[in-house]
Amino acid sequence: PASARRDADGALELGGVSARELVETFGSPLYVVDEEEVRAHARRARDAFAAAAATHGVKARTYYAGKAFLSTEIVRWVTSEDLSVDVCSRGELEVALAGGAQPARIGFHGNNKTVSELERAVEVGVGSIIVDSPIEIERLAAITERLGAVQRVLVRVRTGVHAETHAFLATAHEDQKFGFSMTDAATAVARIREVPGLDFLGLHAHIGSQIFDASGFRASAARLVELHAELLAGGEIPLLNVGGGFGIAYTSHDDPRPLEEIASGIVDAVAAECAARSIPIPDIAFEPGRVIVGQAGVTLYEVGTVKPVRVGDDLERVYVSVDGGMSDNARPALYGAQYSARIASRTTAAVPALSRVVGHHCESGDIVVDAEYLPGDIAPGDLLAVPATGAYCFSLASTYNYTPRAAVVAVRDGEARVIVRRESVADLLSRDVGAVVATETTT
Ligand code: LLP
Repeated sequence: PASARRDADGALELGGVSARELVETFGSPLYVVDEEEVRAHARRARDAFAAAAATHGVKARTYYAGKAFLSTEIVRWVTSEDLSVDVCSRGELEVALAGGAQPARIGFHGNNKTVSELERAVEVGVGSIIVDSPIEIERLAAITERLGAVQRVLVRVRTGVHAETHAFLATAHEDQKFGFSMTDAATAVARIREVPGLDFLGLHAHIGSQIFDASGFRASAARLVELHAELLAGGEIPLLNVGGGFGIAYTSHDDPRPLEEIASGIVDAVAAECAARSIPIPDIAFEPGRVIVGQAGVTLYEVGTVKPVRVGDDLERVYVSVDGGMSDNARPALYGAQYSARIASRTTAAVPALSRVVGHHCESGDIVVDAEYLPGDIAPGDLLAVPATGAYCFSLASTYNYTPRAAVVAVRDGEARVIVRRESVADLLSRDVGAVVATETTT
């Protein structure tokens, strides 16, 4: 985070709190999240989208995509910065509500929402449900009739654009589970317009994640507007939701375009397509997740073992094992994601050695940082910091090898406080019915 500094003893400081003190107080591994940085990114996204929309006389709505990193405290931060919240499961919905998000400012996603999830969403009055299949439309028709409710819905569309980091495929990504094809979406909207309990708000598309420029979004937005224009024959459509996916720099090799540039690229594309069809420009919704929290999070680990590995006579690299791994950050194992690491407990003038930071799990793909030059004198008890772990680390965490999940600590103005407590082995064992019996019989 921007607040990272070295204190007088050379220890890393996050939000004004020393990494050493954080680990002494709260244990390791530890997710540290910088509140001011989350808030700053939330404001930046909100303002970038609002400014881009205002250029064309329309409004922007920014939904924080909770799947990136959700807890009640994070919900409080982003909603107090005037963001709405996007959830994609019953669990995320309950966390958003427990964090005080106004139901009317929650969007509910998912390709397989159950009847009870949909019922709960309609009952609490979520602002929008992004429908994903004909079956879901019929489920909602029945639920709204039973509850006498009117539910606003968007329709998720496969625009055929699939973007991944630098490149995007303008066609040929039809074969995936989310949304309706362009043709089926028109049929879905016609059906929604027949159902008295459903109010059609607009179209939605999400083209991918960790995207660095506006080109894929522009291509997708053009397709969305084409369908949006056709559907105007059946009535007004106030909104167009272009999804999330805005990329961040994980290492010095990543170079995303500034969010302001991407925002205006997308909105300009929507406006140009609307102008070409002589239709009014709708309000535009965005769903950023990673770009809000990614760089605000740092994971702290304690080094356990250090092992130089030679191939023949040559030192290949140093394996630095830490007390976490793929259970707190699955992204290297899942996506080959690259991170960096630095020593957090002290500074040293030791010559750097090519190192690989690995976890404590029982598999060789358990890598935290694949390649990093770390000080050659790194030793057990040193702390390592891995930056840019705010997005999709806590949320993808597992208890693999019965590893209790790490605590989350928020730092701000020299103060640290736990926002999600550390899991314990007892928590894990409490689900094991046999263990409960065994404990009872031995006591
Ligand atoms: N909206 C929808 C409908 C989404 O499916 C997603 C992410 C987002 C918004 C937010 O995307 P973001 O702005 O965070 O890129 N686990 C993967 C990322 C999966 C993203 C899934 N959908 C990772 O760790 O890279």
